[in-house]
Amino acid sequence: MPNHYQLLLRPLVDGVMSRFMGWVGGTHTMRPRGRPRLRFTPEQQGKEACPLVCPRTGTRQNAAALRKPMYGDTGSTLHMKGPKKMSNQQINDALNGQIASEFASWYSYLAMSAWCSQEQLAGCAGWLRAQAQEEYTHAMKIYEFLLDRDVEVKLSPLDAPRQTFGSIVEIFECALQQEQENTKRIDDLFSMAMEQKAFASLVELQWFVTEQVEEEKTARTNLARIKMIADDPAAVLDFDNALGQRSLPMDTSPQ
Ligand SMILES: [Fe+2]
Ligand SMILES: [Fe+2]
Repeated sequence: MPNHYQLLLRPLVDGVMSRFMGWVGGTHTMRPRGRPRLRFTPEQQGKEACPLVCPRTGTRQNAAALRKPMYGDTGSTLHMKGPKKMSNQQINDALNGQIASEFASWYSYLAMSAWCSQEQLAGCAGWLRAQAQEEYTHAMKIYEFLLDRDVEVKLSPLDAPRQTFGSIVEIFECALQQEQENTKRIDDLFSMAMEQKAFASLVELQWFVTEQVEEEKTARTNLARIKMIADDPAAVLDFDNALGQRSLPMDTSPQ
C-alpha cells in the first residue's frame, strides 16, 4: 500500500477547508493527554480494516469507533458540516426594502419639487427634482446589485408622499428629516450585513454610507440658509437662483 496519497479537495462552504486542515493536524500530530496510545498490530499493518489495539485494555476497536465524531462524521463516510451556514435571505430582503425606501425618497423629492414649482420657486424646484433623480439612481444601484448577484428583485408599492407644505422652510426641514431617516436605514443594513458576513453587500453598502454623509450635510446646509433668510423675499429669491444652478443628473424631460 503506498504511504502517500494525493487528495484533491474542493470546499463547497467557506471556512470548511481550514476546519478540515485543523482536523488533519489534530488527528495526525496531536495525541491528547489521558487518551490511551493506539498502535497497529504487526499483522494489521497495511490491512484495510485497520482495527486498533489499546495497549492498556487489550481491546480491539475500529479507528472510526474510537475517534470522537467530528464535523458530523457519521461512521465510515467523512461528512463535513461547514460552519453554520448563514442565510443571506434576511439581508437580501432588507436590500429589497431599501430599493423601496430610495424610491419613496424619489417620490417625496418629486412632490417637494412640484410644490416649489407652484410657489414660483423654479430654482428650488429644479434642485429638488435633481435630488429626486439621485434617489432614483440609488434605488437602481441596489436593483442592479441584486440582479448581478442573481437575487430576486421584489418591488413594493409606494405610498403617496407628503404633498402639502406651509413654507419653503418646511420643505427643507422635510428633506433633512428624510435624509436622517435614510442614514439610519443604511446603518442598520450595514450592521446586518456585518452580522451575516455578507461581504459583497457590505462593499456595496459602503458607498451608501459615504453618500449619506454628503446628503445629510447638504440638507443641513440648505435648511440653515433658508431659515436665516426666510423673512426676506429678496434673499429667498437669491437662494432660489443659487439652487437653480444645479443641473439634473440625467435628462428626464419629455422629448
Ligand atoms: Fe438615497
Ligand atoms: Fe438622499
